[in-house]
Amino acid sequence: MPSLFVTGTDTEVGKTHISAALLHWCGQQGWRSAGFKPVAAGLDAQGGNEDIQNLRAASSLALTAQEVGPLQFQAACAPHIAAALEGRTIALAPLVQQARALAARSDVLVVEGVGGFCVPLGPEGDTADLAVALGYPVVLVVGLRLGCINHALLTAEAIRARGLPLAGWVANTVDPNMAHLQANVDTLRDELQRRHQAPCLGVVPRLVDTSPGAAAAYLNGVALRQRLALGSN
Ligand SMILES: Nc1ncnc2c1ncn2[C@@H]1O[C@H](COP(=O)(O)OP(=O)(O)O)[C@@H](O)[C@H]1O
Ligand SMILES: [Mg+2]
Repeated sequence: MPSLFVTGTDTEVGKTHISAALLHWCGQQGWRSAGFKPVAAGLDAQGGNEDIQNLRAASSLALTAQEVGPLQFQAACAPHIAAALEGRTIALAPLVQQARALAARSDVLVVEGVGGFCVPLGPEGDTADLAVALGYPVVLVVGLRLGCINHALLTAEAIRARGLPLAGWVANTVDPNMAHLQANVDTLRDELQRRHQAPCLGVVPRLVDTSPGAAAAYLNGVALRQRLALGSN
């Protein structure tokens, strides 16, 4: 069974929301699903991180917060800056090791990237380097709002330029009042298929219920099963 690396067209586009939906959907298939957030920046008053909590809750495998998010920083800002504020640096090798250990205990590991695809992590490289070191097929979350077609195509090019397979993409509605939303989704579908042979794995509307199960209902189960069966690791 393959693992997946979830990236997005930007920060706050729904990577966590869609990663949680993927974890929930995998759990519904009877698979042991595990979420992984290699680097999390931004802790609440109780020392918790929302992304880690959400991924942990959506995983069908029982995991500790430390297993889901081994590297946590206080400040909610760019990860290399959050690390520097604490006099720390982000090393990639231990993160890869921790991901592999978790993947070995699960049927599907869903790794949520940090910000957009090329966000710097520190002297050792950026998020894309981490994705390459992991080697998992990438799922691109496209936050539907004006400008997203360009961001999606740039990100898809960056993923392919790193030699990683683009398993598919998920449309997530960031701006429900976006003009010509359906026409944008149609263009994304055509262009990502034509340029990158990347299928649409779901179109998620703006939801009142932001639970993983509610979003999972909008994933394309047939396409997902097909792509997961094609997984190369
Ligand atoms: N389809 C949606 N409907 C409603 N709220 C959403 C949807 N997608 C994301 N959100 C909300 O938007 C915010 C940002 O989403 P999140 O998944 O945390 O983005 P990212 O992980 O890319 O930073 C969160 O509060 C999340 O609950
Ligand atoms: Mg997130």
